Amino acid sequence: MSNTKTTAAKMRNPNWIAVEDYKFPGGWTDPTAGGGNSADKDARARALCRELEAGKILFFAKLPYKFPSDEREFLLSREWNELRLHKNVSYRPADDVMRGFSGDHGTETHLHHIVRNYSAHVVKFLSDFLRPYAGKWKLDFASFRPLEEQGRDLSLHKRNDLLHVDAFRLRPTRGGRILRVFTNLHATKPRVWYAIGDFGYVAEKYAADAGLSRFAAKNGSLRRSVSRCAAGLGLARLSRTPYDRFMLRFHDYLKENDDFQRNSPRLRLEFPPGATWMVFTDGVAHAAMSGQFAMEQTLLIPPEALVAPESAPYRILERIAAARLC
Ligand SMILES: [Fe+2]
Repeated sequence: MSNTKTTAAKMRNPNWIAVEDYKFPGGWTDPTAGGGNSADKDARARALCRELEAGKILFFAKLPYKFPSDEREFLLSREWNELRLHKNVSYRPADDVMRGFSGDHGTETHLHHIVRNYSAHVVKFLSDFLRPYAGKWKLDFASFRPLEEQGRDLSLHKRNDLLHVDAFRLRPTRGGRILRVFTNLHATKPRVWYAIGDFGYVAEKYAADAGLSRFAAKNGSLRRSVSRCAAGLGLARLSRTPYDRFMLRFHDYLKENDDFQRNSPRLRLEFPPGATWMVFTDGVAHAAMSGQFAMEQTLLIPPEALVAPESAPYRILERIAAARLC
């Protein structure tokens, strides 16, 4: 990978911002950056949302939310061989359902309790930390990822170790964005990613070849339609917009594309044990190369809640296509 820029990826990594003024417990710590009044916190949170939307990863060296040590130890205490047939354990907060585990009832009940608590604590943290989005998001799945990522035997489109942007087959976002929060629970091993934060670069270089013009509305104009995009994000069953259909294709196209996989100027990121990071994975192309025992919570942020809608993939793709996509 000649164009891969390898970095020790500690605090100087240009792809991520180390957040050092928000801790658990207590929240914002720097009086000039939010420890004081509510307006300061709003301004600091809004600035960080803008960075996130532009393709930065927000990084916390220590847990910024509650996660009881006995619950972490339970998750790390076994190999979870029951999960080999599944990609992950998933948890859907809206109806308190956990899937992907097929072991004994006692373990299942305890695991369910832990992922339920995990999801609730992350949401509580985000409601304060990402306050511009609070109450506007749609809470999506959480997951427990105990299997080693390196060398997993998955079909090409399901592989985590190929660079891609995320798109959900059954949960169209209609222009909304996919925010994911990860924690590396492993006691000693980092979780290693490759990432490309510049969606504009990826889209300019590959969207046309992936067939973008075929997905654009035939008589579309560039008249803004955020409310139309956003309408229905909270509905149970949503139809796909041309944007959703293109992003599903783009996910597969990027994994299939040898030039993109070999030659794109990605960064190597090492998330150390105990680290938490959050990223819009519909805009930041990413590949999980190695790592074991991670937790993850997904939230869908509707277009009207974005603080920098011009950075949203649907807006970038509409500019390239010169046509409306949602
Ligand atoms: Fe992904």
